[in-house]
Amino acid sequence: MRAPSQGARGRPINAVAPSAGQDWDSERYARNARFVSTLGEDLLALLDARPGERILDLGCGDGVLTAKIAAAGANVLGIDASAAQIAAARRLGVEARTADAQALSFDPEFDAVFSNAALHWMKQPDAVIAGVRRALRPGGRFVAEMGGHGNVGAVRTALGAALARRGIDAGLHDPWYFPTVEDYRGRLQAGGFVVETISDFARPTVLPGAMVDWLETFAGAFLAAVNPNERRAVLAETAAALEPSLKNADGSWWVDYVRLRFHAVKPAGGS
Ligand SMILES: C[S@@+](CC[C@H](N)C(=O)[O-])C[C@H]1O[C@@H](n2cnc3c(N)ncnc32)[C@H](O)[C@@H]1O
Repeated sequence: MRAPSQGARGRPINAVAPSAGQDWDSERYARNARFVSTLGEDLLALLDARPGERILDLGCGDGVLTAKIAAAGANVLGIDASAAQIAAARRLGVEARTADAQALSFDPEFDAVFSNAALHWMKQPDAVIAGVRRALRPGGRFVAEMGGHGNVGAVRTALGAALARRGIDAGLHDPWYFPTVEDYRGRLQAGGFVVETISDFARPTVLPGAMVDWLETFAGAFLAAVNPNERRAVLAETAAALEPSLKNADGSWWVDYVRLRFHAVKPAGGS
């Protein structure tokens, strides 16, 4: 049976607006989260973009990977819900536009759809998968990596405890959807894809800065649920709770990432 937090197929995971309170400040993202696109680079090998192909990058962020796809000779379009991220992507010279990946309206015009570290911010996965299928030409591929089941589990637990101490149910504000392999495979298949490969793996990741920087970059939805006067205290309490497990002896911090990666294909006979 599916855990309630993962939702039933065809319905949103919960009724909260996705990523409400999450501010994608592109400069802060570049400073605190460059490792996201750097670690996503080997996904480009799985995508295997070829010159002349038309490729859609879902949740392209500040466009660093989109630009690498373009450098392979492909004709790539990045979309992202954040206007600030799209502005940063355009500064890199990539074609990019603001759009919600949960409401795609493309015709079958892409040879491939790519996504790195974005699908877990989208709590309507079936709507994403349906839109991707419509956007792909028959035989086109969907290649992506996202947070998998258990991703940032220690951080999520510590944030939840800090909010609970203030009488706030963190589950009502949680912006993340971290599916199991079985869950996402089932959704892809139900959405008309043939799943070529899908797997998850742990990726413990050392941060470029402090835990508080990571929280300010990625945990805006939780912090927005807290009285503004309390936010610094929530950050400090969360970092203190995580220190014994996620702070290294040399003072650096790491995060307990789990990734889910897949390569799925729209059948050649599909419309
Ligand atoms: C962690 S960033 C990853 C960015 C980029 N793919 C990379 O590898 O650096 C997640 C991105 O997903 C975008 N995003 C979240 N929900 C979205 C949605 N519904 N539609 C489009 N983009 C979305 C965010 O705005 C953010 O830029």
